[in-house]
Formats: sequence, C-alpha cells, structure tokens
Amino acid sequence: MQTVLITGGTSGIGAATARMLAGRGFGVVVTGRREPSAQLPPGVRWQAMDVCDEGSVRAGVSAAGELDAVVCNAGFGVFGSLEEVSLERARAQFDTNVFGVLAVLRAALPGLRARKGRVVLVGSLAGRVPIPFQVHYSATKAAVDSIAQGLRLEVAPFGVKVSLIEPGDIQTAFNDATDWGAPEGSPYEARLKACREVIHRTMAAAPAPGVVAEVIHRALTARRPRVRYQVGPEAWTVPLGRRLLPDDLALRLVARHYGI
Ligand SMILES: NC(=O)c1ccc[n+]([C@@H]2O[C@H](COP(=O)([O-])OP(=O)(O)OC[C@H]3O[C@@H](n4cnc5c(N)ncnc54)[C@H](OP(=O)(O)O)[C@@H]3O)[C@@H](O)[C@H]2O)c1
Repeated sequence: MQTVLITGGTSGIGAATARMLAGRGFGVVVTGRREPSAQLPPGVRWQAMDVCDEGSVRAGVSAAGELDAVVCNAGFGVFGSLEEVSLERARAQFDTNVFGVLAVLRAALPGLRARKGRVVLVGSLAGRVPIPFQVHYSATKAAVDSIAQGLRLEVAPFGVKVSLIEPGDIQTAFNDATDWGAPEGSPYEARLKACREVIHRTMAAAPAPGVVAEVIHRALTARRPRVRYQVGPEAWTVPLGRRLLPDDLALRLVARHYGI
C-alpha cells in the first residue's frame, strides 16, 4: 500500500483528498495543528504538525514512517492593502505558505528519493494573477509555482516526480481562517469592502473540494504526471487570459472582477 502525507489535511482540500485517497487504497497521514474533531475515515490517521516549526515538521515526518508521496497543502490567506499589512503579518503569510513547504520538503525528500516518490504542491491560480488586497498570499503562491518547477528539475534524476496543483475558487473554510485585518479609516476602505464582498460571494458559489482531490489523485497516479494541473471554474480562463492578453488589460479585467 502506498502511503501519502498531506499537510493541512484536517479540513477543506486536504481532508477531501485524504478521504478520496483512502477510499482508493492509499494509506494517508493527515497533518495539522488541530486534532480533527470528527472521526477519521478508515485508512487515515492524524499526526500533529505545525509547518512553521521545523522541529514539529521533522518529528511529524519521522513519525509518519516510510512515505511514497507528500502533498504540501497547508496554507492560509492574509487580506489587506500592501501599505497597511504589517511586515509581521506578511512574514506569517510567507512562513506558512512558503517556508512551511520548504521545511516539509527538506524533511521528506531523503525518504522520497529512496522510494522514487511523488511530491504534489498546492499552489493557486492567484500565483499567476494576483488577487487585489491579497498580494502577500498571491506572492506566496507564485513562489510555490517556482519551487515546484525548480524542484522537479532537481529531483527528476532520482525518479521523484513533482507536480503543482493550481486551484481557482474552491468552497472550504479558507475564508474563515483568513487574517482579514481591519484598519480603521483606511484610504482603501471602500475598495477593500468591495473586494472582500466579491471574495465571499465567489467562495459561496465555488465547487466543493472533491474536484481538487480528484486532480491530486491524478497527479499521484499518472505514469507521467504533468508539471501543473489547473482546477476549478477559472481553470481555463486565467491561464488563457494570461497568455493572450497584454498585462495591463489582464490586470484591468481583474480589477473589474473584484469591483475595485
Ligand atoms: N479554497 C480555495 O479557494 C483555494 C484556492 C486555491 C488554493 N487554495 C490552497 O489550498 C490549500 C488548502 O486550503 P483550503 O481551502 O482547504 O483551506 P482550509 O480549509 O482553511 O485548510 C487549510 C489547512 O491548512 C492547515 N494549516 C494552516 N496553517 C498551518 C500550519 N502552520 N501548520 C500546519 N497546518 C496548517 C489547517 O489545519 P490546522 O488549522 O489544523 O493547522 C487546514 O487543515 C491552501 O494552500 C490554499 O492556499 C485554496
């Protein structure tokens, strides 16, 4: 049986992926800071792990045993204007979404190299087209995109396969975990409010995380997994728009979409 470790496996995309993989015969280790309140499905076990704490990551990866694949999925968002988001909040964003990925990969790669394993990184279409007032989040996902491609080159000779998953809007608890901030009397106030409303509205209409789980399963099982997989309602429009439209026009369309 193949064993997969999923970071941020306690809710949303990670939990849906764990359920799907276990149902298809994988052994799954879900990790997170909080112990799941509901009973885990058969084939899934929980391991405490804070991706921002290298000691916790090393202990968690070691306790998980021999791994055939790692899905780096843990992440959250920070909302606010670049001018008003403190460097402390910005660092926290990069700490989880970028350094957390690096910590898990550093801990897991020796074992994955030995077993010719797989790596799946959960990025975001926001890594290609920044979400206004989520520039820190978008920048972390652009970094994950680069990490996935560079790592793929580094580990290919060892037989390790690396793929990036780029979801668009997916209905999860992501917005509940987002650090929204709330500066009083911001010069950006009206546009922050408009943008926040669009983000909540699109999330409410977004597909369930099972669609991403399906694509992660594909990346883990394909004989030749792709470099990147887009998934969700914007899976075609964002990459196509990015390729075909001049940057200025693409960004103006983004501004219009978010009502800013
Ligand atoms: N939902 C979307 O529309 C969307 C779109 C594109 C990309 N994504 C990406 O998909 C991934 C999963 O997000 P989601 O939508 O499923 O959100 P979610 O339901 O809020 O899940 C986030 C997961 O990350 C874990 N996590 C957060 N900080 C952590 C830390 N320091 N250490 C360990 N685990 C941590 C959380 O577990 P604990 O709280 O227990 O630690 C939770 O299991 C994220 O990387 C997100 O950026 C989501």
